[in-house]
Amino acid sequence: MPLVTMRQLLDEAAKGGYGVGAFNVNNMEQIQAIMEAARETKSPVIIQASRGARSYSQDRFLYHLMLAATELYPEIPVALHLDHGNSPETCKSAIEMGFTSVMMDGSLMPDGKTPATYDYNVKTTREVVETAHARGVTVEGEIGVLGGIEDGHGAGVDALAHVTNPAQAEEFARLTGVDALAIAIGTSHGAYKFTRKPTGDILKMDVLIEIHKRLPTTHLVMHGSSSVPKELQDIINQYGGKLRPTWGVPIEEIQLGIKNGVRKINVDTDNRLAITGAIRKVFAEKPEEFDPRSYLKPAREAMKKVVAQRMTQFGQAGHAGDYAPVSLQEMAARYK
Ligand code: G3H
Ligand code: 13P
Ligand code: ZN
Repeated sequence: MPLVTMRQLLDEAAKGGYGVGAFNVNNMEQIQAIMEAARETKSPVIIQASRGARSYSQDRFLYHLMLAATELYPEIPVALHLDHGNSPETCKSAIEMGFTSVMMDGSLMPDGKTPATYDYNVKTTREVVETAHARGVTVEGEIGVLGGIEDGHGAGVDALAHVTNPAQAEEFARLTGVDALAIAIGTSHGAYKFTRKPTGDILKMDVLIEIHKRLPTTHLVMHGSSSVPKELQDIINQYGGKLRPTWGVPIEEIQLGIKNGVRKINVDTDNRLAITGAIRKVFAEKPEEFDPRSYLKPAREAMKKVVAQRMTQFGQAGHAGDYAPVSLQEMAARYK
């Protein structure tokens, strides 16, 4: 089937009461890992590319790899989503290229670091919604700001400084008409989210639940949702890596989120850890190897394992065959 819209995937997830993992990609092996995991678990899936990924891959490569994915895995509903679009222009260029969903992250200024004003966020997000919906393309917005600047996205070290205000989230959703809403509840991007297993004082699930009460039909998005499992950290460190002890978002908290309106769960770091651990292992155990396939194959397999596990944990497994794709034209007509 062709690339489907994220809105359709999330509407179906809401009906079924499950979440859909949104996995970041930069290259062929990562796309293959996700598609294999989706086939094995019979899952619909969101594949997302950041601005960094688009520039790394000269995004036309990435786009055509995605078309190959739809041809080779015709039974899997897959949406191609722009992660953290930093301006209406970036979102428009993704729409032109054929992305079926975009995130306008107006919580930050176009530098991806400086927190923006609420009015700026409403205005830029609304602008993208108008352009995107006319083409049937889905829009994700963000209200509140994630912590961390490790990967260039986020407001700084204090992840609790810009936790989403539920009343503002409600107004933002109404004023912008977004299909999906990312909220800030104390998570940040990257491996170093928490210095201990998070409890309610640092991972604000209470805020998420309050937002869901106010916006029961809005699809909520959890960014920074890698679980950063100790096993993956250990493999890297066992083979010469230097990761400091760290904690991610426990799966049970994500599952609590899914019971409270979370439909999209962003995961990148866990896959990066799996890939790097697998490659380090080959380098350490077989220093004589120099064929890239000798380490990219285990890397792809390690990522597939993590993705398949998340698909099962998020509940999307088994739902690939539930529905037929709705075209962009039909989505555009529905938005009208
Ligand atoms: O939002 C963060 C994702 O992990 C993508 O990261 O901007 O380094 O590609 P990136
Ligand atoms: P992680 O760094 O926790 O994987 O989060 C990824 C993300 O939110 C991408 O937008
Ligand atoms: Zn993110």
